[in-house]
Amino acid sequence: MTETYDCVIIGAGAAGLFCAARAGATGKRVLLLDHARAPGEKIRISGGGRCNFTNLAVTAANFLSENPHFAKSALARFTPADFLDLVARHRIAWHEKTLGQLFCDGKSTQIVDMLLEEMQAVGATLRLQTPVSTVAHGPDGFRLTTPTGQIGAKTLVLATGGKSIPKMGATGFAYDIARQFGHRVTETRPALVPLTFGDSFAPLAGVSTPVIASNARASFAESLLFTHRGLSGPAILQLSSYWREGEAISIDLIPGIALADSLRAQRQREGKRAITTHLAHHLPTRLVEALTPELGLTGNLADHSDKRLMQIETALKNRTLTPTGSEGYRTAEVTLGGVATEGLDSQSMMSKTVPGLFIIGEAVDVTGWLGGYNFQWAWASADAAGRAI
Ligand code: FDA
Repeated sequence: MTETYDCVIIGAGAAGLFCAARAGATGKRVLLLDHARAPGEKIRISGGGRCNFTNLAVTAANFLSENPHFAKSALARFTPADFLDLVARHRIAWHEKTLGQLFCDGKSTQIVDMLLEEMQAVGATLRLQTPVSTVAHGPDGFRLTTPTGQIGAKTLVLATGGKSIPKMGATGFAYDIARQFGHRVTETRPALVPLTFGDSFAPLAGVSTPVIASNARASFAESLLFTHRGLSGPAILQLSSYWREGEAISIDLIPGIALADSLRAQRQREGKRAITTHLAHHLPTRLVEALTPELGLTGNLADHSDKRLMQIETALKNRTLTPTGSEGYRTAEVTLGGVATEGLDSQSMMSKTVPGLFIIGEAVDVTGWLGGYNFQWAWASADAAGRAI
């Protein structure tokens, strides 16, 4: 005999766990399936183990999508303050780190435990290590095939996320099922991902410095981290979502610093000191050393004319670099693109063409900036669907 539920959710990540709790709270019989051994694995590893679970300043402008208006409704109806209420009820301590980013004081597994408790409180069932091989749709709803038998569902929620970090079980499952039901899937690509430059920056690996990283589409004032294979750090991860193969990016290594003015003033006071010593007040020493041959940073400050100081400032403010590629889905925090929003109702996340089919979280073509935005989208889209189921 086929077991049946009011709602089956595939994917026990951030969106699926929260949706199970929300749908269960409306009295529905809910089953949450995942092929992984543990739920919420990306929550567990997020934010360096402390989960940057939301951001105080969430607006639709912090998301990329073919339709920049799509996310507005769900984000307005389930806000960061709503999530904070939940976090407070579960007595989870948190702090603001920077730029409105909220992190747990303790471990990120507190958020997973909170979501599991919310689910259990409303009687929703979690079944792990259960891959779904086929999904069929008929007059009575959906029929899913699993290794242990068929499962019937009046409503089906796809919450299997994007393709980032396949090692952790990420698949294109939601895209495949969405296509099967006639939905369009936009181009998908790794985002919030380090950019590669061969081994050009290997000697600087580990050096971090505040920058403005920009291209024609976006600009981010955050820190940059040199790695063995290229550039990372928040500024680069953010910009990667707006970058395309073959394009150059621009880096200002001395944001907000009028370097030539500052060096001129120093020259009057301490002209006999090496120019590199002065530059090391504004940039990491290893970076100054690496730039010395290219920028001619030799001799004392007094040896450098006003014109030379201005040339150095310009060279540091406008560094144009062309990445050879990105680290790809292996390390990307998210997948840009996904199920096209024109096929979904923005208030409920329900398919406009297949009644009872919902698609939420990262699987949808709504991709947030770094800084808690992606989890807030997971919570908000899950809440929207959970209420409507
Ligand atoms: P999510 O990926 O969380 O869950 C999908 C679930 O579906 C998984 O449990 C998976 O096993 C399951 N699944 C996949 N295919 C399946 C199939 N075929 N059958 C059954 N189950 C299947 N965001 C943020 O806001 N703040 C942060 O601090 C971070 N930090 C961070 C660090 C790292 C290293 C990564 C990789 C990502 C982040 N993110 C983040 C992004 C954030 O983790 C991501 O956007 C959300 O987890 C997306 O939630 P979803 O529930 O949509 O997918």
